[in-house]
Amino acid sequence: MCGIVGYVGQGKCKKYVIDGLKRLEYRGYDSAGFVCIDQKHKQFNFFKKVGHVQELEKALHDLELKSSIGIGHSRWATHGIVNELNTHPHFNCDKSIAVVHNGIVESYEEIRKKLIESRHEFESSTDTEVVAHLLESLIKTHKTLKAAIVDLVRQLKGAYALVFLFEQYPDQLLLIRKRSPLLIGVGDDEMFIASDVLAFCDQTNKVIFMPEESFAIVKKDQIELFDFEGKALIIKPQEIDFKHDQVDKQGFEHYMLKEIYEQKRSIDRSISFCKFIGSNNFNNLTHISDNFLTQEAKIQYQDSIWSQLGITSEKIKELKYIYLIAAGTSWHACRIAQFFFENICKIPTYVYLASEFGYMPFFPEENSLAIFVTQSGETADTLEALRVVNSCNVFTVAITNVPSSSIVREANGFLPMQAGPEISVASTKAFSTQVSVLFWLANRVALEKKLIDIEVMKAAEEDLLLAAEVLEISIESYKWEIKQTLAKKYSKYNRFIFLGRHISYPFALEAALKLKEISYIFAQCYPAGELKHGPIALIDKETPVILFSSLNDLIYQKLVANAQEVKARNGHLVTFVFEGQQELIELSDYSFIVSRVNPFLGPLAMTGLMQFFIYQITKELDRPIDRPRNLAKSVTVE
Ligand code: F6R
Repeated sequence: MCGIVGYVGQGKCKKYVIDGLKRLEYRGYDSAGFVCIDQKHKQFNFFKKVGHVQELEKALHDLELKSSIGIGHSRWATHGIVNELNTHPHFNCDKSIAVVHNGIVESYEEIRKKLIESRHEFESSTDTEVVAHLLESLIKTHKTLKAAIVDLVRQLKGAYALVFLFEQYPDQLLLIRKRSPLLIGVGDDEMFIASDVLAFCDQTNKVIFMPEESFAIVKKDQIELFDFEGKALIIKPQEIDFKHDQVDKQGFEHYMLKEIYEQKRSIDRSISFCKFIGSNNFNNLTHISDNFLTQEAKIQYQDSIWSQLGITSEKIKELKYIYLIAAGTSWHACRIAQFFFENICKIPTYVYLASEFGYMPFFPEENSLAIFVTQSGETADTLEALRVVNSCNVFTVAITNVPSSSIVREANGFLPMQAGPEISVASTKAFSTQVSVLFWLANRVALEKKLIDIEVMKAAEEDLLLAAEVLEISIESYKWEIKQTLAKKYSKYNRFIFLGRHISYPFALEAALKLKEISYIFAQCYPAGELKHGPIALIDKETPVILFSSLNDLIYQKLVANAQEVKARNGHLVTFVFEGQQELIELSDYSFIVSRVNPFLGPLAMTGLMQFFIYQITKELDRPIDRPRNLAKSVTVE
């Protein structure tokens, strides 16, 4: 959601900014813009286009733009419709200050009103344009640029990553960060600016993650960093290990398909990482290498897992409550994990939707742990919920796929997943890796609390690897049938009902979300036991029911009864079942049969097949699978 790319250095501004914006396309956007200072005429050159970055690239293609400083932006509309006027960059009255912005300035209406009274004129409906005008007026009333900036941030409420370019200072960029990430890549006589490390990861491996509430004046060979009071900060670049080839499609038609197939490796790698934490220093690494998997387990089940999480073994032993907080797919992973923590660790576990959390009473208990689960580590709702919990003195831990993300800096401790970069907007491998890491963690907590012994812990790890294998093998078993007949057949329906029970209910929620977000087919999901309380009225031949089975015998019997209810009303039933679940198979119009695994890992075993089926249905409909309409990969606004 929105991307910022900036450059100051050696004349390759246009190329770097356009390439960088393309790399951030996966985050989702609806228009893109670029501004630079033309070396010859010493003035701004700017371009805005609605649609893909390619449109902007075309507009710039034939222009001889010699520039060594500039910024680009991809916008995901929040304030104002999608059009060129609302596309960034935005400017002050005489167009001598340009700004791009990620986030939302909450105080923009009152500021805008005051500025209009003092004769500022606005071209767009955005909150961002207000910032350029406000800085213009503050520069006039303060002695130095620094003093004006300190006043600016005092007046700006909300979340923002801002990058400014000034005609008056053609060798410097101004960067401001509050609750929205902004990074500086340090090169040789050049600096790369971006809101996501992917934009410049093959230009330099030296990165400064701007601290929360800070601003920086960046020249090609110098960075001055300040806090919001204007006090100088010293911060050293960190070295990152991240290569752009990690995000190639590698021959797959879509990132989503590639990521579906990467799941087994992502899970294996993440579990290896969890097991070996502490035997190496991973602090500054983004992802572990596959060589790592070949290492023998030298140090097993050390307390180092707890130091990674920033918590003590004593605190884990005393744990009385767990809160799991997340959004979207990550929330579904948490709903599944609730079964792990409550059954394996015997700890009451509450799962919260991050977007609802701030508006509900929260009763923090002593000896509790709040775990925030987020692929991107940048989801605004999740970050806001984290801030609330942090203020309640509850220990907070982030489980994220992006170790350089904001959540890592704000939570008390963090556990990096090793899923590898997830580019497709619809989450696939992050979901299965989250479920796996949470299952591992639940067992590890149980081991610490002496509820299980080391043999059970090892068996749990084996179970995870087996479930990951089943996840992959099941795709292979049904691949051809799905491609040749099933996808075509089911892509013709306009709506679906999804059912699950117990641990398969949150999984059914995830399946319904996947179908909706990438195929745009309407899907409604219910706990199967609720069917008779209303939704059964929807059952007809035109509305296939997709039911996910369980390996819990009692739940299975209940699901058989629910399947009978569907068939008794002439419903069309598709089931995802486990080997030997004959009654369900016989009731179904079609069954996907998956090998048996540890009952807690049933959803994990079915994940690949479910995702592949939905992917192929969507392909039949010719939708933009990796970038569905209206969606963004990182949802950085509330
Ligand atoms: C759906 C999807 C979203 C995200 C949600 C949270 O496929 O990807 O529902 O799961 O926006 O994102 P993260 O996990 O980055 O916090």
